[in-house]
Amino acid sequence: MKNMSSVGGPVDVTDREPASIEVVNVSKCFGEGDRGVEALADLTLTIPAGDFITIIGQSGCGKTTLLRLIAGLEYPSKGYIKVGGDTVKGTGWDRGLIFQEPRLFPWATVAHNVRLGLRDRGRSQDQIMALLQLVGLEDFAAAYPRELSGGMAQRVALARALAGSPQVLLLDEPLGALDAVTRMRMQDELMRIWQERSLTMVAVTHDLDEAILLSTQIVVLTQRPGTVRRVIPVDLPYPRDRTSAEFNVFRQELVGMLA
Ligand SMILES: Nc1ncnc2c1ncn2[C@@H]1O[C@H](COP(=O)(O)OP(=O)(O)OP(=O)(O)O)[C@@H](O)[C@H]1O
Ligand SMILES: [Mg+2]
Repeated sequence: MKNMSSVGGPVDVTDREPASIEVVNVSKCFGEGDRGVEALADLTLTIPAGDFITIIGQSGCGKTTLLRLIAGLEYPSKGYIKVGGDTVKGTGWDRGLIFQEPRLFPWATVAHNVRLGLRDRGRSQDQIMALLQLVGLEDFAAAYPRELSGGMAQRVALARALAGSPQVLLLDEPLGALDAVTRMRMQDELMRIWQERSLTMVAVTHDLDEAILLSTQIVVLTQRPGTVRRVIPVDLPYPRDRTSAEFNVFRQELVGMLA
């Protein structure tokens, strides 16, 4: 385990290796009989440790359901999921989830919200400030969620998810509500966090450019019930230039497939 306040500053609170994810023949039904909804059907997906995967697919095809299954908030109706070789049986510190909306505790300050995500709250003050610095909110430690913009609230949610030192970070359209400029900044931020820390990232996005910009592989799901339609490896070097000809090749391929 790395010393959390050693050389390199207290920012590095990661004391774990990234974990692989195996989703094997997973189906998920909500409800039963005629009124049952099959969200996912026989979905198999292997995510290597340390990869940055983005998931794209139409609204209602089961993207959030897939993340909630990996997080252990739901259980598969069929099949199984392993993270780091262990079958998922519930939530755990090894996995952090950022929801489609920030879901901060309104009664707690920014610093307190981040503190609630800490695995070890004993020596918390330095870590909280380091995490707030990481997401550029060190001046807002004492602010309440109602005083934040949408982008700031999402950054607090990101800091809170990182506070648990996860091996896997699950992001459900974390940048969906942001304006174009903030969104680009946050994309850079996510890249930096992914590259600085040992994390396996799984992010849902509706933005094709974002998928090409960030991911090692893009997973395209079918319509509901969702299953893997295609996995597209993005073999462009980082940092990526969204105005380059190579980038455009991927853009055209995705647009052609989804149109
Ligand atoms: N708890 C639940 N109970 C019943 N049905 C559910 C539940 N959660 C999801 N569903 C259904 O499962 C399907 C997939 O939902 P999910 O939220 O995973 O889609 P999504 O791909 O994340 O969509 P979006 O892009 O709009 O966020 C939908 O038909 C939804 O109505
Ligand atoms: Mg969703």
